[in-house]
Amino acid sequence: MNGRASGSKSDRAHIPVLCDEVVALLDPQAGETYADGTAGLGGHAAAIAPLLGPSGRIVLNDLDPGNLEKATARVRAAADEAGADGLEIIAVHGSFAALPAELESRGIRVDCFLADLGFASNQVDDPERGLSFQAEGPLDMRLDPTRGETAADLVNRLEERDLADLIFRFGEERLSRRIAQKLVEARRFDPIHTTTRLADIVRSAYPVAMARKSRIHPATRTFQALRIAVNGELDHLDRLLQAIERGSEAARRAPEGETGSWLACGARVGIIAFHSLEDRPVKQSFVDFASRDLVDRLTRKPIVAGDAEASGNPRARSAKLRGVRVVCPGSSR
Ligand SMILES: C[S@@+](CC[C@H](N)C(=O)[O-])C[C@H]1O[C@@H](n2cnc3c(N)ncnc32)[C@H](O)[C@@H]1O
Repeated sequence: MNGRASGSKSDRAHIPVLCDEVVALLDPQAGETYADGTAGLGGHAAAIAPLLGPSGRIVLNDLDPGNLEKATARVRAAADEAGADGLEIIAVHGSFAALPAELESRGIRVDCFLADLGFASNQVDDPERGLSFQAEGPLDMRLDPTRGETAADLVNRLEERDLADLIFRFGEERLSRRIAQKLVEARRFDPIHTTTRLADIVRSAYPVAMARKSRIHPATRTFQALRIAVNGELDHLDRLLQAIERGSEAARRAPEGETGSWLACGARVGIIAFHSLEDRPVKQSFVDFASRDLVDRLTRKPIVAGDAEASGNPRARSAKLRGVRVVCPGSSR
């Protein structure tokens, strides 16, 4: 199956952000192993596959089983097209938070790793996923539709105060208390089950002048908050950062080639964040790991999109790429 030929218009429209910059940062070499924690539609992985060559290996991971299948097909096609038909591709369904342990249990050490956080274009464009207020759809928001509570479950279950805290914390929404109050009032009559009803209720919590002046839709922050909560996004990122710390410690402690870690010594790790709640912990962790000589920082400042990319791909405008290299034992620094 060829992912590009069989994908929807939205799949084909997906453009990997900062793709050249990711390739330059991770610097994949022939025969190496690359793990993509957020395979998505396979854009970054398809660019990296030819560089790994026929003796290389790619581990594709995603919460969304549909995207994982699409990414696998796209990467296979890219490798075959480049004459790297021996490239090994391993698909792992689940969170990148669990991937390091999975890799260790399979005895796989990676030379390059990427996490391109958040959602893919085909997910937000599909009304059935409930990620956007632009179209009517079920209030779902799960990136892994096979498990867990939906946004509707949360909105209809949480106490008013907890709902307000969630909207404030994950959406940085100043009107969180008013919004939570409106949601609780509305659900008393009829549980909230659709994206458009949620958006209308949130808008009704905004003073008219404020809603008119705002450059973004009043529901933007509430939708972000619910998506982050439903998918445990910050918790998963935190667990990934802890795994990078542990993996780097193990790679530094053990003799070369026997690290028992999911990260090879010298491994390059990149993370692309799209808002400050994601970027802040990445930055702080990378600075901390470097101060303890676990890694070298590959980026002092985040890499951001140039004008051409930002004008052609709105999502790229908020992308920030940071990277580190795992320090090897005995390396002179
Ligand atoms: C921005 S897209 C990645 C796009 C990909 N880099 C590409 O070039 O096509 C984000 C993907 O990460 C997945 N995702 C989000 N959080 C995840 C997590 N904690 N673990 C694994 N996958 C996750 C989403 O399902 C989505 O497919």
